[in-house]
Amino acid sequence: MLWRLWASSSGINHFQHGEESWALVTGASDGIGKSVCQAFAQKGFNVVLHGRNQEKLNGVKEELQAAWPDRKFEIVVADATQGSLASEVASAVKGKHVTILVNNAGYTSTLIEPLVAQDPDVLQRGVDIGCTWLTQLTRAMLPQLIENKPSAVVNIGSFVAAHPPPFLAVYAGTKGYTRAFSQALRTEMRLTGHKDVDIQYHESHSVATKANGSPVSTAAPDPDTMARSIVVAIGQRKGFIVPYWSHELTNWFLWIMPESWVQKMSGSILQTKRTDLKKAD
Ligand SMILES: NC(=O)c1ccc[n+]([C@@H]2O[C@H](COP(=O)([O-])OP(=O)(O)OC[C@H]3O[C@@H](n4cnc5c(N)ncnc54)[C@H](OP(=O)(O)O)[C@@H]3O)[C@@H](O)[C@H]2O)c1
Repeated sequence: MLWRLWASSSGINHFQHGEESWALVTGASDGIGKSVCQAFAQKGFNVVLHGRNQEKLNGVKEELQAAWPDRKFEIVVADATQGSLASEVASAVKGKHVTILVNNAGYTSTLIEPLVAQDPDVLQRGVDIGCTWLTQLTRAMLPQLIENKPSAVVNIGSFVAAHPPPFLAVYAGTKGYTRAFSQALRTEMRLTGHKDVDIQYHESHSVATKANGSPVSTAAPDPDTMARSIVVAIGQRKGFIVPYWSHELTNWFLWIMPESWVQKMSGSILQTKRTDLKKAD
């Protein structure tokens, strides 16, 4: 929390060098990803927008270009359930000076159901986006990020990695993977002489995106506010960071509580939200 006292929004400039620097943001067509693209443009980056829906991405690109006519924006379309396409994304951006990769693509689960009630294909897609895509795209982009260092990989995580709630086992599992993957890779980069490739894990609680459905509140910032916090946090160059202040307070609260209480609490909240029981009514 104390880092906020001296955090400067210009820390991100560390990753802005060469003639022009680019950020690649996955899941850029909506929610946090779209807002992160805006925040990067505001900070002087050109942005590659990744997503699966060309039409939606065209709309976002037009919006960004109108707001920042001096920046460049490009689109790369690839379904993040298809890990084999990650190398095509990396090839598409080769030649651009990409210094930041934000692994944001994912989903805010609207299914709150026991594993046994869930469609195995839907579960698989969750794992494909949350684990396989993140892994393969990071792998495919690392040579460019090493060449373009100082550079960063920013993985958008969730508090469910540390406090996995029932009925969201796969979502929580993918975020647990993201957290462990980020930590291991950060150390690996240091041990292999690439400490200037900064691997960061950004932990989030609720953000009032359309997918999340929560109203904006102290606990759930709007995506633009969250994105500005993420950009400030990137500049701190930490392996683990909670970008938004109220999320960090909540984290502290959860850390001091016995995990059995946290599980009990989340269990009773999520029991009342079970989508399988609502469908059965
Ligand atoms: N919102 C929260 O409360 C919250 C809390 C903690 C962590 N997070 C994490 O933050 C990230 C963004 O969440 P969000 O709430 O902003 O979600 P969102 O509004 O649903 O946006 C998700 C983005 O990912 C894209 N995407 C989804 N599936 C894809 C696929 N198969 N291929 C390519 N792109 C795909 C979406 O594209 P379309 O526009 O085509 O759907 C969209 O651009 C996720 O990793 C989420 O787990 C969110």
